[in-house]
Amino acid sequence: MKQRRYGFVVVANRLPLDRTTDERGEQCWTRSPGGLVSALEPIARSAGGAWVGWTGSPDDATEPFEADGVYLRTVPLSGEEVDRYYEGQSNSTIWPLFHHAVEQPTHRREWRVAYEAVNRRFAEAAAEVADDGATVWVHDYQLLRLPQLLRDLRPDLRIGFFLHIPFPPVELFMQLPRRAELLRGLLGADLVGFQQPLAAQNFLRLTAELLGLQPHGEQVEHQGRTVTARAFPISIDVSEIDQMAADPEVQAEARQLRRELGGDRRLVLGVDRLDYTKGIEQRIEAYGELLADGTVSNDEAVLVQVATPSRQRVAQYQQLRERVEREVGRINGQFGDVGRVPVQYLFQSRSREELVALYLAADVMLVTPLRDGMNLVAKEYVAARRDEGGALVLSEFTGAADELHGAFLINPYDVEELKRGISTAMRADPEELTGRMRRMREQVREHDVDHWAQAFLRALGRPALRTA
Ligand code: ADP
Ligand code: G6P
Repeated sequence: MKQRRYGFVVVANRLPLDRTTDERGEQCWTRSPGGLVSALEPIARSAGGAWVGWTGSPDDATEPFEADGVYLRTVPLSGEEVDRYYEGQSNSTIWPLFHHAVEQPTHRREWRVAYEAVNRRFAEAAAEVADDGATVWVHDYQLLRLPQLLRDLRPDLRIGFFLHIPFPPVELFMQLPRRAELLRGLLGADLVGFQQPLAAQNFLRLTAELLGLQPHGEQVEHQGRTVTARAFPISIDVSEIDQMAADPEVQAEARQLRRELGGDRRLVLGVDRLDYTKGIEQRIEAYGELLADGTVSNDEAVLVQVATPSRQRVAQYQQLRERVEREVGRINGQFGDVGRVPVQYLFQSRSREELVALYLAADVMLVTPLRDGMNLVAKEYVAARRDEGGALVLSEFTGAADELHGAFLINPYDVEELKRGISTAMRADPEELTGRMRRMREQVREHDVDHWAQAFLRALGRPALRTA
């Protein structure tokens, strides 16, 4: 059968759907984890077109299929490729390095070779489904080589690239073996988008230092083409969250959650993938110290930490899980009562509705990453608070901190500051909190994910997409 071709193609390591195994051992499809899919899924759904990606399981030969009006072009990965390209080069080399080496990056030749091969396979799949002159939008650190490989195959395409995570300073990028190759990979795009202006500047500076190019303003000439680098801070589907927060069932669930957690106790909440960049350990440690020094008591408040399992075969993630669980156990053992513990820890993924109910119930939301490109949880919390209640404690090392000026900003490395941030937010005057939340809600409403996608595609010269 002849391959259908599309005018708009998204390429990302993951498809929006993840093939998982449920409690009864049966295979099923669930929404893929993480901010990339949360942001892009509504865009792809309204724009139509194709999405090239992996199903999340090794050796999965699922044929391409259509879901919600999007053609999902599966790219199978073998067990060895998952090991080397995904868990190795992507998540043990590039992820830690790009998050300012908050964990030590590992460099292995066989990982780099697999990364190149898989990027080539993704490029071939994209080339196969893209129509003549199509717009191809490539995403994230797993596919840094892809823009160049795709351009070699299909010079007719308009290629955009967006990096969802931070881009490191030049000195750190220089650690990467074959660093120039990676950079040339990105320069295959017409437009390279970042979360923050500093990231775009780092990238442009690197083209000068590493390749001797001469960037001018936000542009640089490379092999006779102009490449633009600019910040496009990503956002969320505000109306989706708003609708859920307005749903009487979700509101009833929020009330029930509060009752179950102990009626008049203040609810302090963390929601993250279990990732060492998120500052979960530092947050729990700070909360433990607040209990230890008597600033907060077990009767007065409860910390609920929902942590989605993530990249569980990577050693650094296994070690993090052990450390977090040990610390939660220690705190609960020391400060808990029968039937009432200070830290409720859920190592689980929850539905969107359940998360929104938690957001509605939480008096204080803790978003304390050591480094984060944006952090969508912070924006989701704000979007859910139609009542203009609640307080956000936010790390200054997130992209979201540039926008959410009504948050209590903290340095997560400074445990005293973190403690002060939590207790100040817990005890702030409700009127002050309303003012803060109102400002943040305005910002998020005016800059939602559709706004982000339109701005990117306009800059790419393809504004006419059918979105929202
Ligand atoms: P990252 O992309 O690094 O995971 P973000 O905060 O940008 O971080 O995005 C995380 C996304 O994953 C959000 O849309 C959030 O709602 C979702 N998420 C986080 N934790 C959970 C969880 N425990 N269950 C379900 N979804 C979650
Ligand atoms: C972050 C990354 C995404 C990634 C997601 C989930 O949002 O920026 O590229 O898909 O985390 O991680 P995973 O490794 O499960 O795809």
